[in-house]
Amino acid sequence: MSAATNRSIRLARRPRGDIEADCFRFEEAPVPEIGEGEALVRGLMISLDPTIRGWLNEVDTYMPAVRIGDVVRAGAVGQVVESRCDRYAVGDLVFGMIGWQDYAVADAAGRAMNVLPPGVEPADALGIFGITGMTAYFGMLDVARPKEGDTVFVSGAAGATGSVAGQIAKLQGCRGVGTAGTDEKCKWATEELGLDACLNYKNADLAEQLDAACPDGIDVYFDNVGGEILQLALARINQGARIALCGGISGYNAVAPPPGPNNLMQLVIQRARMEGFLVLDYVSRFPEAIAQLATWVAEGKVNNRATIVDGLENTVDAFQQLFTGGNIGKLLVRVSDPS
Ligand SMILES: NC(=O)c1ccc[n+]([C@@H]2O[C@H](COP(=O)([O-])OP(=O)(O)OC[C@H]3O[C@@H](n4cnc5c(N)ncnc54)[C@H](OP(=O)(O)O)[C@@H]3O)[C@@H](O)[C@H]2O)c1
Repeated sequence: MSAATNRSIRLARRPRGDIEADCFRFEEAPVPEIGEGEALVRGLMISLDPTIRGWLNEVDTYMPAVRIGDVVRAGAVGQVVESRCDRYAVGDLVFGMIGWQDYAVADAAGRAMNVLPPGVEPADALGIFGITGMTAYFGMLDVARPKEGDTVFVSGAAGATGSVAGQIAKLQGCRGVGTAGTDEKCKWATEELGLDACLNYKNADLAEQLDAACPDGIDVYFDNVGGEILQLALARINQGARIALCGGISGYNAVAPPPGPNNLMQLVIQRARMEGFLVLDYVSRFPEAIAQLATWVAEGKVNNRATIVDGLENTVDAFQQLFTGGNIGKLLVRVSDPS
C-alpha cells in the first residue's frame, strides 16, 4: 500500500443538542491488512445525511447507535485498491458503509459493498441514484401518490431529497410549492427545478406565504422537516390529502422531544392520511427507481445538484451544514479522487 495511514473520525462523546467539534476525535492508524476473501477500499466520497445525527444518540433506532470510539457510520463511494476475493477487482468503484475514514475492508458477506454500474459518477451514486433519490421517488410516488392537478407541498425543497421529490411531483402534472431557508435556494427551486412557488421560511410569515402560494389548499405534503412547518401544512390540507412523513430535521438536535402538531384532528376532519416511511423497505425496488430517474435525468427532466466539500478533515464542519442549511442539493465530502 502506498498510503501508510488510515485517517478516521470517531465519536468521542454523544452530542447534546447541536453538533460540536469535540463530539468527535481524529485518529490516524495503519491502513488495515486484508485477509482471504476481503478487499481494501479507499474512500472517495462520503454522503452526509441527517440520519447520521440520530445514530450518534444513545438509543438504537432502525440501526444500532454508533458506539463511543467507533468510526462515524456513513454511506460512501470508494475504490477497491487491493483485493483477495472474486467479488471485487482492483479499480472497482463500490458503495458501502465506509464511514468517516480513508479506508475500509469489504468482504463478501457482513461488510459487503455494491459495485457501481459502469459510468455512474460517485456524486450521482450517492445522490440522485442513492438513498436520497430513492427516498424522493418512493416517498412521493408510493406513499404520497400525487394526482394530476394536485397541489403538492415539499419542505426542504432545495435539499437532496426535497429537490428530487418536488420535481417528481411536477412530472405528475401537479402544482409544486416548496420551502427553503434562503432566497438563493428558492430561486433555484423555481427557476431550475420548476416549482411554481418556493417560500423562504426564514424571511416572512410562512402562514401568509403558504396561503398565497396554495390558494386551493394542499393535497400532498412531503415532509422533510417536521415541527412548525408540518403544523402549518396540516392546517391547510384538503379532503383526502396525503402527508408523507419523510423526516423531521427541525427536531434532530433537540435536547427534549419537540412538541407535536396540535392540529392532528385535521386528519379526521379532512379524511386524510399521514404515513411515515423508511426507504430501506424499498431496497428490492431500487432498480425500478434508478431506471426511471436515469431516464428523466437523460431527458433533462430532472435537475441534479450537489454541494461538495473537499477533505475528510472538513467532514464535521460539513455535517453541520445540514442543520444550518448550508447545502444546496446533496451534501458530500470528497475524500480522494479515483485513480
Ligand atoms: N424516510 C427515509 O427513509 C429518509 C431517507 C433519507 C432522508 N430522510 C429525511 O429527509 C430529510 C432530508 O434529508 P436530506 O438528506 O435530503 O437532507 P437535505 O435536505 O439535503 O439537507 C437538510 C436541509 O434541511 C433544512 N433544515 C435544517 N434545519 C431545518 C429546520 N430547523 N427547519 C427547516 N429546515 C431545516 C436545511 O435547508 P434549509 O435551507 O431549507 O433550511 C438543510 O439544507 C431529512 O429529514 C432526513 O432525515 C428520510
